[in-house]
Amino acid sequence: MYDFESIVDRVKTGAIKHDMAPEPVKSAGFIPLTIADMEFKTAPAVQAAVMKAAEHGVYGYTYADDAYFSAVRAWMERRHNYSPEQESMFNTAGVVTALGMAVRAFTAEGDGVVIQPPVYPPFRFAVRNNGRTLLENPLVLKDGHYEMDFSGFETLCKEKAPKLLILCSPHNPVGRVWTAQELARLGEICVKYGVFVIADEIHADIVHHGGKHTVFATIDGMAEHCAVCTAVSKTFNLAGLSCSNIFIADKKRQEAFQKVFMRESSEIIPYFARAATIAAYNEGEAWLSQFSAMVGRNFDVLDAFLKERLPMLKLIEAQGTYLAWVDMRSLALSDEALEKLMLEKAFLALDEGYIFGTGGSGFERINLALPQVELERALLRMEQAVRGMIS
Ligand SMILES: Cc1ncc(COP(=O)(O)O)c(C=O)c1O
Repeated sequence: MYDFESIVDRVKTGAIKHDMAPEPVKSAGFIPLTIADMEFKTAPAVQAAVMKAAEHGVYGYTYADDAYFSAVRAWMERRHNYSPEQESMFNTAGVVTALGMAVRAFTAEGDGVVIQPPVYPPFRFAVRNNGRTLLENPLVLKDGHYEMDFSGFETLCKEKAPKLLILCSPHNPVGRVWTAQELARLGEICVKYGVFVIADEIHADIVHHGGKHTVFATIDGMAEHCAVCTAVSKTFNLAGLSCSNIFIADKKRQEAFQKVFMRESSEIIPYFARAATIAAYNEGEAWLSQFSAMVGRNFDVLDAFLKERLPMLKLIEAQGTYLAWVDMRSLALSDEALEKLMLEKAFLALDEGYIFGTGGSGFERINLALPQVELERALLRMEQAVRGMIS
């Protein structure tokens, strides 16, 4: 059994999630449920590998060598039935970096790029900050879960001729693990209208409630029509090691990406990220399966609590990520008032729905990668604040 119960003190470690709250809220002992990292230590095998690497003492330039690639590929094959070629892999200092590079590599200024909000905010930044045209194909909330709007996407393709779609799979913040059928349908439209896909699959490994992740490149006919972004960062709580992979199978696309990569990056990966990735993928599977089960339980705890004590708030059905998306629109509060209620009355820092763009207002994203007792403590505070507001 691994430890998903101990509370780890992250104060004075430079943890953004813990440091970024306003001072009075911090000193009132707030609970941070924001930014997508975990309140748990990584898998013991990973920590041991990093400590061994630290003991070595020479932290020189490091690249993604055969040991690194073999570990990545074996994991992708074993868990995702995906066998990328070594020459298709580029390494960047995180997936967000890769998204920006991909937008610059595969589109020209003014070109249309589609995103599906509500979605991880850096998707729209990657489009807008690079002078491309943001096109939105909002998800649809139906019977307590989200679906893609395929006909809306096809209309957008016909009318605006986008060059690129940035797909979030599994989807942050709504927690959907897209089925192979949904991805195939999306892919068909992309091929028909010549839309290349950047599949951000950073959350691929964290599934629960029957979710089964499908790598976009494994969908029939899609391998050459997409780039797939992966990382150990979400899976093993290693975001601070800044390392990710982007796989591009099509040779022309590889060349286009290479040009941007040569200009803006280098072949070097962080020394500690190499050691951690190899250990995570070769020895971390048992830890991950216990972590994912724990996340599933935290979703159940949240769901049961809301149904029993705060039935006006609705948990959106999810099968992936450790991020819960809760519909609080029935409180009829402005974005500002909802944020204030959670922060100043409940002393909870949540990710406000509106930051995820169209369709996000009135929702809150709650990070469930924390010990169950902490979650329960947070929920009691939420209940008090909401009840205090209503009475
Ligand atoms: C969908 C998605 N992509 C990318 C990232 C961040 O990736 P990185 O830290 O590798 O830049 C996150 C982090 O929450 C995310 O949810």
